[in-house]
Amino acid sequence: MRVLVAGGAGYIGSHTVLALLARGHDVVVADDFSNARPSVMDRLAELAGRPVALEEVDLTDEARTEEVVARSEPDAVIHFAGLKAVGESVREPLAYYRTNLDATFSLLTAMRTHDVRRLVFSSSATVYGDHAPVPYPESYEPLAAASPYGRTKVMIEQVLTDVGLADPDLRIALLRYFNPVGAHASGRLGEDPQGVPNNLVPYVAQVAVGRRDRLQIYGDDYDTPDGTCLRDYIHVEDLAEGHVAALEHLEAMATPVRAFNLGSGRGTSVRELFDAFCAAVGRPLEAEVVGRRPGDLPAYWADVTRAADELGWRATRGLEEMVADVWRWQSANPDGYPRERAGQHPDVTPA
Ligand code: UD1
Repeated sequence: MRVLVAGGAGYIGSHTVLALLARGHDVVVADDFSNARPSVMDRLAELAGRPVALEEVDLTDEARTEEVVARSEPDAVIHFAGLKAVGESVREPLAYYRTNLDATFSLLTAMRTHDVRRLVFSSSATVYGDHAPVPYPESYEPLAAASPYGRTKVMIEQVLTDVGLADPDLRIALLRYFNPVGAHASGRLGEDPQGVPNNLVPYVAQVAVGRRDRLQIYGDDYDTPDGTCLRDYIHVEDLAEGHVAALEHLEAMATPVRAFNLGSGRGTSVRELFDAFCAAVGRPLEAEVVGRRPGDLPAYWADVTRAADELGWRATRGLEEMVADVWRWQSANPDGYPRERAGQHPDVTPA
């Protein structure tokens, strides 16, 4: 299939691009590099053994998005594009609603114009809110997220469900990710957050390379085996393969819209993850226990039976592999991706 990957230069998008190419699909990346480095495209070309087609576009621009879909003539779209920092979404709700919803509207409008009826959407476990039974089943309703970021995911799932009801020929997979971590086994692709990382694994990785002093563990007085929160960490390469499985399953879907959890199906505590990371690095790292982070739930993980039964997919990479791959990426790229693309130079020559 020819696949337009919206947000394909980002953390999960870039790994998915490689997984698609490995399965023989044709890929066009659409990205505006608002939260990704253009040099990701060099790394993708290096790993793919050939350049990967790129459309540099702000997907909230409906006219430009239409041009991109017209030019790239995709059979399907995988939609990763959007803002994703929970805390920032509380401070800048309008930017989150506008960016995440408008990009989706532009893509859906252009897809309708050009008769593209296959879509895979990046959703999140955050749509289950605070009251779903653990492990979270896809059948749970009502969806309710606790942040503006999460509510954009709930809203987009609702929009896609309504669009699917109006056009029964559409096939849309809603992929609810649990906690994506890890990096490409080559050490050439990984997570490269701008500023102070919000999430546990990139934070620990930056402690390990000396960019941060110590991890702050947000609470060890939860009702869990070691008192720290349990989450369902999933290797980004498993997640990428889950997208390929979902894409290839669209045709066989009995209903226009279907949600799938992409997780490992097991809970890992903050302490277990931290200890595994120290083992991968081969020396102790600094951590201190501080108060709970507002909004954190004690423990949740995915019910993975639907993805296994219907997509024929399950996560295969364990915790050791996740942290080893993060460490390989972070130690080889302590400051993340290069700022410039190969052969390109800054506009301003430093004095
Ligand atoms: C968060 C978001 C979720 C989003 C996901 C993306 C919230 C409430 N949820 O999930 O919507 O989809 O990121 O991956 O923000 N922790 C520490 N110290 C740190 C950072 C984290 O102890 O410096 C702990 C947290 O308390 C939590 C666990 O590590 O128990 C994982 O945290 P994080 O990586 O931020 O992910 P989530 O909060 O699960």
